[in-house]
Amino acid sequence: MMDRLTVELGTRSYPVLVGTGLIADAGTFSDALGHRSLVVTSEAVAEHHLGALESGLAGHAYEVIVLPDGDGAKTFAMVERVLDAAVTSGLGRDGTVVALGGGAIGDVAGFAAAIYHRGVGYIQVPTTLLAQVDSSVGGKTAINHASGKNLVGAFHQPRLVVADVGTLATLPDREYAAGLAEVVKYGLLDGPRLFGWLERSMDTLRARDTGPLAEMVYRCCSLKAAIVAEDEIEQGRRVTLNLGHSFGHALETAYSGALLHGEAVGLGCLMAAHLSRSLGWLASGIPARLQALLEAAGLPTALPDPVPDAERLLKLMAHDKKNLAGRIRLVLMRDLGEVEASVDYPHAALVLTLREFTGEAS
Ligand SMILES: NC(=O)c1ccc[n+]([C@@H]2O[C@H](COP(=O)([O-])OP(=O)(O)OC[C@H]3O[C@@H](n4cnc5c(N)ncnc54)[C@H](O)[C@@H]3O)[C@@H](O)[C@H]2O)c1
Repeated sequence: MMDRLTVELGTRSYPVLVGTGLIADAGTFSDALGHRSLVVTSEAVAEHHLGALESGLAGHAYEVIVLPDGDGAKTFAMVERVLDAAVTSGLGRDGTVVALGGGAIGDVAGFAAAIYHRGVGYIQVPTTLLAQVDSSVGGKTAINHASGKNLVGAFHQPRLVVADVGTLATLPDREYAAGLAEVVKYGLLDGPRLFGWLERSMDTLRARDTGPLAEMVYRCCSLKAAIVAEDEIEQGRRVTLNLGHSFGHALETAYSGALLHGEAVGLGCLMAAHLSRSLGWLASGIPARLQALLEAAGLPTALPDPVPDAERLLKLMAHDKKNLAGRIRLVLMRDLGEVEASVDYPHAALVLTLREFTGEAS
């Protein structure tokens, strides 16, 4: 079973394959692989899925490098390890980097591919839901710096994305739910059709039935592909993909790792919906529907203890790299499927929304 869509970027267009059993199939990769390949993966992913990928790469020359799981892979030291492995294995300009893992592996492997020999081809093989619906498509690559997440990076589009939903069977429940938060975000961006389908299908989606799962990944990737094709380097519509992220990044930092990125984004979408409603932009029923959908997905809809204060969240939001001329830029909602990036809202309304969530409003 396989569906295919294309990210339309002229000569840099590339296919996104969505289905099951794809990574073990040699036919999946043959057109996209260069002379030699370097597979970059992480420990947990290698344990579950490297064997299948190796069947898919049979007959090609490749080496494997295994990095730590999670954001520990997104450091200068790990980039250096990947580059060293590329040199040692004789990867030339016609070589390919294959990223097998979650968003962290995709980001570091993509960044190494962007700078090795001034850019070699790479293939994204995402194994988390978040990576399948979001980070593997669109060409953003990055590592972290001591003073901020994703501070060092490059736009470098992959040559192929292989979203094998069968790999999601081994993903821990909490990581899976975190990916569902990005899916819910796409529902808000796309409009009543996708949002309504998610409301009706959430139970099946949580059970990870591969049929509906593949449909969900395909629908989300199609939406992201259309947005990236229209605005590759985020000067316009691509900014709307940050719905929930300004709040979410502040929460992630305030909780210092105790909230997963997706969990923070889900809460951030809820905060954006509440603020939009308080401005009179959004019908009052939508935040309640969003909350119900997030709950059905197994995601938090209230800030866990210890709750940070609103003042701290505001300070963190003021440092967001997407802000404009010192004003906090937020993606706000006018309806399902109608969002806009704005700095044009009363500051007091933002403060009040934060206080509602931190319990300081009364
Ligand atoms: N480039 C982009 O456009 C973009 C977009 C969103 C997020 N990101 C980045 O993505 C990263 C988060 O990605 P993530 O949520 O995929 O987390 P992750 O890459 O840290 O993976 C989460 C955990 O799941 C494990 N894992 C991955 N696949 C597995 C599987 N199939 N079975 C069992 N365990 C598995 C990983 O080893 C890790 O421990 C962050 O660094 C974030 O900055 C990038």
